[in-house]
Amino acid sequence: DIKGVVFDLDGVITDTARFHAQAWHALATELGVKWDDELASGLKGLSRMDSLELILKHGGIEAKYNDEEKQRYATEKNTNYKHLIQQLTPDDIYPGMKEFLNELKDGGYKMSLASASKNAPTILEHLELTDYFKKIVDPASLHRGKPDPEIFIKAAELIDLKPEECLGLEDAVAGIAGINAAHETSVGIGDSDVLTEADMVFSNTKNVTLENIKTNMEK
Ligand code: G6P
Ligand code: MG
Repeated sequence: DIKGVVFDLDGVITDTARFHAQAWHALATELGVKWDDELASGLKGLSRMDSLELILKHGGIEAKYNDEEKQRYATEKNTNYKHLIQQLTPDDIYPGMKEFLNELKDGGYKMSLASASKNAPTILEHLELTDYFKKIVDPASLHRGKPDPEIFIKAAELIDLKPEECLGLEDAVAGIAGINAAHETSVGIGDSDVLTEADMVFSNTKNVTLENIKTNMEK
């Protein structure tokens, strides 16, 4: 039986995935790396440094910069990103997600956050959702980023549940792979043609309800 839900944040609860993309796009352009849909999709869910590495690889310049230069570029992206998220308000919560969080809370389900982002607490503050997420995996504690299951296993441990008792919500291909490898039920948010490995996919967050999830699990 499902007793808890593990949430990704960016692209699941709010559309910060577009700010990450915007900030990475700007850096890629500065580095002379061509931006395309494949790169944009592949970046979703990856840690900050893994994202930079993928961009460099995409441009065939993975050996061009030393660690110090890479740190500088990652910081430059993050400064730009932090500026973009300042504008977030509770109105930016995806349709139906606040209702889903309340449904879970009222139903006694446990919740935790499995976001790779070091900016997650700031975003939750802006969205006024801090009280819903008392349990947050610290991304600095991870040995491996998504698609590794580590973050999702830790997120279940934080709420004292077995992975089998948890749903995992994700918008990223890398995230769905991590949830599946952790043996949680994967709920994709986005395009079913992209999130092909998910146990179920919702293209509109308005439809994310316990009833709809349970119906899909029976299929
Ligand atoms: C999330 C996002 C990624 C982002 C990562 C690290 O997983 O989906 O796009 O790269 O967090 O975020 P940060 O805010 O720490 O750079
Ligand atoms: Mg995401």
